[in-house]
Amino acid sequence: MSFPSQRMRRLRRTETLRRMSAETRLSRDNLILPLFVVEGGGVREPVPSMPGVLRFSVDQVVDEAKRVSDLGVPAVILFGIPEDKDPVGTGADAANGIVQRAVSAIKRSVPDLCVMTDVCLCEYTDHGHCGIIEGEEVLNDPSVERLASTALSHARAGADIVAPSDMMDGRVAAIRTALDANGFEEIAIVAYAAKFASAFYGPFRDAAESTPQFGDRRSYQMDPPNRREALREMRLDLEEGADVLMVKPAMPYLDILADARREFDVPLAAYQVSGEYAMIHAAAQNGWIDGERAMEEALISIKRAGADWILTYAAADMAARLKS
Ligand code: PBG
Repeated sequence: MSFPSQRMRRLRRTETLRRMSAETRLSRDNLILPLFVVEGGGVREPVPSMPGVLRFSVDQVVDEAKRVSDLGVPAVILFGIPEDKDPVGTGADAANGIVQRAVSAIKRSVPDLCVMTDVCLCEYTDHGHCGIIEGEEVLNDPSVERLASTALSHARAGADIVAPSDMMDGRVAAIRTALDANGFEEIAIVAYAAKFASAFYGPFRDAAESTPQFGDRRSYQMDPPNRREALREMRLDLEEGADVLMVKPAMPYLDILADARREFDVPLAAYQVSGEYAMIHAAAQNGWIDGERAMEEALISIKRAGADWILTYAAADMAARLKS
């Protein structure tokens, strides 16, 4: 037989053949847009380290929700930035807190848009940690209590899904119990299950004003070298009642995502975090890469590794580019 009999290039020859041969496809249905909500009225304030990302007041976030829903984005996840912070994060579970008001306003005017909420204390505590502190220690169980109360307040405001991102032990079970005890059996939990202590959260902390005032998050978020431990974290969250497991960040942790895809039958989410987004935009602004193509390639890699849902600040841009 003359060499080579197998020619891999045959199916790459034309755009049509490539379209027919694509193993993975990015769909608008996969995308979830994070939105930052601030106090005030008429606010649409750019986040300097995240080109194209704005912080919205409640009135404006409703318009944005409508716009992205019209583009075909099925879901948003809300982050609140309150005016006042204190040691226990009182604003996090306030019935009239910033996220609670944003959820009800969005559900009122765009009822079909799935509204998720990020459940955490770091935006609401004056020390910037994701839980209650004693001295410089972040306490687990008292934090879990506050987180469960926060998730419940989001459900009461009308959230479709709550997503705890704090990485305290036992919080998924506590949230499930609190929701069920109050008639919210149908509200799903997306657990930030394998969330790593990452340098890629930098721009987010500017946007959310949630930088820890002392120390770092390494006593609760995962250590980047650990792959087996990530599976344990995910298994525990599943046992505690998580409906969807999330890996975060996405691109530096695609191996974790691929492991999870093999190991679990539940839907998987991945979060393309602020630093991943910012790097692509920064390089594109310098003319060093084609930003749109790089973003699409980054998102397809996350899908290919096994994610069903992708949280990305590029959700609206990408939905506008995708045909379905
Ligand atoms: C809150 C939270 C963070 C992110 C999502 N939820 C910040 C952190 O853990 O410091 C990061 C998202 C991003 O970087 O885009 N705990």
